[in-house]
Amino acid sequence: MSIAAALAGAAHVLALDLDPLALTATGLNAGLNGVTVGAPPTGRLATAVADVVTMAHAPDDDPLVAALLAADVVLAGDLFFERSLAAATLAVLRRAAAGGAVVMAGDPGRTYLPPDTFTPVATFDVPVAAALEDAPVRRTRVLTLPRPTG
Ligand SMILES: C[S@@+](CC[C@H](N)C(=O)[O-])C[C@H]1O[C@@H](n2cnc3c(N)ncnc32)[C@H](O)[C@@H]1O
Repeated sequence: MSIAAALAGAAHVLALDLDPLALTATGLNAGLNGVTVGAPPTGRLATAVADVVTMAHAPDDDPLVAALLAADVVLAGDLFFERSLAAATLAVLRRAAAGGAVVMAGDPGRTYLPPDTFTPVATFDVPVAAALEDAPVRRTRVLTLPRPTG
């Protein structure tokens, strides 16, 4: 998702994940896609290890929360597969939306996607690894989190 955001024209992207190996893969994949890795102004995509559960409760001046609150767009890719992770993700995304960001999530039909919370904007049939999923293709939706009113 972070690489797609950079390829779509984002001036700078910060990719977060709990797993350093996932971020290593992101960096390698970014390079293969012509996206420069590193902090601005030289890099377009930076990575940071982050725990969304910690971010849900961290203060506004926490560096990662501050980045979240300063972002124009916040994207979450497939994070609603576990109950507590889904709750923390929703809390973080709500925080971002309250801070003024456009918030979008990609979800391939996970159990803990909060009901009646997001607005679907697009649907894709995505080929997946049958060894990991229970089907060769998963119907995957792009959703947006409405901005809070008032
Ligand atoms: C299904 S993968 C999705 C990967 C990627 N976001 C995408 O859309 O392709 C779920 C990812 O969530 C990460 N993850 C799990 N628990 C997390 C947490 N508490 N905070 C941040 N990331 C977490 C995992 O390391 C894994 O990379």
